[in-house]
Amino acid sequence: MRHFLKISDLTNKEFLYLLKKTKEVKNSFKTQQKLTSLSNHTLVMIFEKQSTRTRLSFEAGIGQMGGRAIYLNTRDTQLGRGETIEDAAKVISRMCSIVMIRTFEQETIEKFANNSKVPVINGLTNKYHPCQILADIFTFIEHRGTIKNKKITWMGDKNNVCNSWIEAASLLNFELTISCPREYFVDCQLSKNLIYVEDPMTACTNADLIITDVWTSMGYEDEKKERTDIFQNWRVTQEKMSLASPNALFMHCLPAHRGEEVDSEVIDGPQSVVWDEAENRLHTQKALMSFLLLGEQNL
Ligand code: CP
Ligand code: NVA
Repeated sequence: MRHFLKISDLTNKEFLYLLKKTKEVKNSFKTQQKLTSLSNHTLVMIFEKQSTRTRLSFEAGIGQMGGRAIYLNTRDTQLGRGETIEDAAKVISRMCSIVMIRTFEQETIEKFANNSKVPVINGLTNKYHPCQILADIFTFIEHRGTIKNKKITWMGDKNNVCNSWIEAASLLNFELTISCPREYFVDCQLSKNLIYVEDPMTACTNADLIITDVWTSMGYEDEKKERTDIFQNWRVTQEKMSLASPNALFMHCLPAHRGEEVDSEVIDGPQSVVWDEAENRLHTQKALMSFLLLGEQNL
C-alpha cells in the first residue's frame, strides 16, 4: 500500500509515469470519454482548513472515474471533540478505499497514515502541498515541453508549496531559485538544484518560470501584519516579469491576493497560466488516485 504525503514519496520514474497518465486522463475528460476504473471506490476527504480547488478537484475527480467522495470536517466530526487521529484513522479507513487530508501538522497526516488500512493523500499541511506540485509541473511541461534544465524561480514566502517545489527540484533535476527575506529562508539545505538569492530582481533575471503564493498561509494569520511589511519587495510585478526570459510563465496555486504577492496585470497577463494550473489539479489527482488504488495500469 502506498501513501502520498510528500513529493519524495515518489521515485523519479513514478513521477514521470503520473505525468504521462495525467495526459491520458485529461484527454478522456476533454473528449468526454467515460471512465469507470474507480467505481466501487470511496474517497473520504477530511478538511481541517478551508479549500475550494482541492475539495472540488478530488470530489469531481473520483466521481468522473466512477467512484464517490465523502466530505468531513473538524467542526462536524468527533475529530473536533478530541477523538485521537490514530483512532479516527482506524475507523475511517475501514469504511472507504482512500483518504485525503488537509490539516496543520505534517505529523498528523503521518500518524493517520500509520494507522490507516488504505492509501492516504496529503491535501496540504503547513509543511507540504504535494498535489499542487504535480499540477504545477504538469502545467509547465504542457506549455514548455520539458522542465529539465529550466530555471524556476520561487518568489516570496518559503511555505508548504515552496517546500514541495524544493523536493521536486532534486527528484526531477531542475534548478530552483528561492528568493525571500533572509530570515524566512529556514530549514533548508542548498544543493546543486537549490539556490538562494535574496535580491528579488536578480532572482527573476532569466527565469523560465516565476511562481509565488500568499505571504500569509492558513494557520499563520497572527503574523499577517509583519509578513505584509517584510515581503513588499517580493511582489511579482510586470517589471520583474520583464527581467525573466521572454518565454517565461507565471504560476500561483491560488487563491491569490492581488496587489499583495502579485499584481493583477501579471496574474491576468499573457504569461500567466494560473487557470490551466488550477484545472490540472483535477487531472493530476485523478491519475494519482488511480495509481494509488490500482497501480500502473490502463484507465
Ligand atoms: N491551491 C489550492 O490548494 O487551493 P484551495 O485552497 O482552494 O484548495
Ligand atoms: N500556502 C497556502 C496555499 C493555499 C492553497 C496556504 O497554506 O494557505
